[in-house]
Amino acid sequence: VKRKIPLSIANRLINPGCVVLVTTSLNGRPNIITIAWQMPVSHVPPLVAISVAHTHYTHEVLHQTGEFVINVPNKDLLQEVLLCGKVSGRDVDKFMESGLTPAQAKKTSPPYIKECIGHLECRVAKTIDAGDHTIFIGEVLHAECKEDLFEETWKVRESNAKTLLHLGGRVFAITEPYNK
Ligand SMILES: Cc1cc2nc3c(=O)[nH]c(=O)nc-3n(C[C@H](O)[C@H](O)[C@H](O)COP(=O)(O)O)c2cc1C
Repeated sequence: VKRKIPLSIANRLINPGCVVLVTTSLNGRPNIITIAWQMPVSHVPPLVAISVAHTHYTHEVLHQTGEFVINVPNKDLLQEVLLCGKVSGRDVDKFMESGLTPAQAKKTSPPYIKECIGHLECRVAKTIDAGDHTIFIGEVLHAECKEDLFEETWKVRESNAKTLLHLGGRVFAITEPYNK
């Protein structure tokens, strides 16, 4: 079960710097891309940024449609994260190939990935040219997360709330609570 969360804390869904699965859609055909380079950038309005290489299919679609959903996978989705970060939506239907399930979003046409534990629906507010990537800044229109896994922040003691951090190549880490 998912529940809506206030936009003022929607940034916390991606605060750990976790790898995300970003969905876009063109003419009703959805695609998924793995993105490690993401960050929250503003509270009011709530803005988040993703950096996408010029060569990727997602880059083309984002320019045309201006809408994306950031889906937050937990550690159980590592295989899917690797797959969606390897093949292109130009050649492959990544929902079919990965077995992930699309689910209707509330305010955007790109779908949620049902198996993910958090979702931020975004409309592109600004783009910034950055070398061989473009930074797409999205305004968050609606945010939801798995009901039992988030209370003010991810409940990282729960194994299902552990998100994935990308250290490089095939090396990943998971979040662990740590307090002095
Ligand atoms: C762990 C991981 C993180 C990635 N992070 C990014 C990223 O931040 N930005 C980006 O442009 N590509 C990133 N990629 C590469 C794309 O996900 C990959 O090239 C993908 O196949 C492009 O899909 P598309 O052509 O369907 O858009 C990453 C790949 C992996 C495996």
